[in-house]
Amino acid sequence: MARLRVGVLISGRGSNLQALIDAAAGAGFPAEIVLTISNRRDAQGLERAAKAGIATQVIEHGKFASREAFDAALDQALRASRVELVCNAGFMRILSAGFVEAWRDRLVNIHPSLLPAFPGLHTHERALEAGVRLHGCTVHFVRSKVDDGPIIVQAAVPVLAGDDAEKLAERVLAAEHRAYPLALALIAAGRVRVEGERVVIRGAVPATGMLLNPKAES
Ligand code: GRF
Repeated sequence: MARLRVGVLISGRGSNLQALIDAAAGAGFPAEIVLTISNRRDAQGLERAAKAGIATQVIEHGKFASREAFDAALDQALRASRVELVCNAGFMRILSAGFVEAWRDRLVNIHPSLLPAFPGLHTHERALEAGVRLHGCTVHFVRSKVDDGPIIVQAAVPVLAGDDAEKLAERVLAAEHRAYPLALALIAAGRVRVEGERVVIRGAVPATGMLLNPKAES
């Protein structure tokens, strides 16, 4: 069966992009990354993609007169590469309602908190401040409200005594690197559907020993 054609949007380090690249290199993985777009020329993720032989494009938001014009350029590039699913991976631009609508249920994001807790920035600092015992990450379909939309996969990590934002971020990031490939695999296998703004996953997903839900396939 043809693999799902994925475009990844990044702005920086690209460790989630790397997790997706590594997963997609595995035998039988149902998706392939065909394009990586960065809005920043200096994004480290661009090197990761190039190293993996993935096409890269830099589309600098500052060169466009409006958000809509920037998003139109993104849209055009994605369509030119026949992208079927867009994965935001540390992409630090808010997408316009038109773009989000055009890619409805074909546009996903990873956010470093257990949504709906802590949308927005500085999630680890805020989790520590709030004193939550569990924190984590969420992979979700994108809607025009920021960090909102049907939840596909969440992974929880404990907040430990002695944590600072950096230590907690590191623990969450390790969970992100497992949650995002799992979500992509489920979508690409055609097992994810949105029903009334909630995600339903078809079929069983075996245990991983991690607080990852739905549980990962072995
Ligand atoms: C991740 O924590 C992601 O959840 C957030 O931004 C960070 C990006 O990291 N949206 P990387 O660029 O994938 O390493």
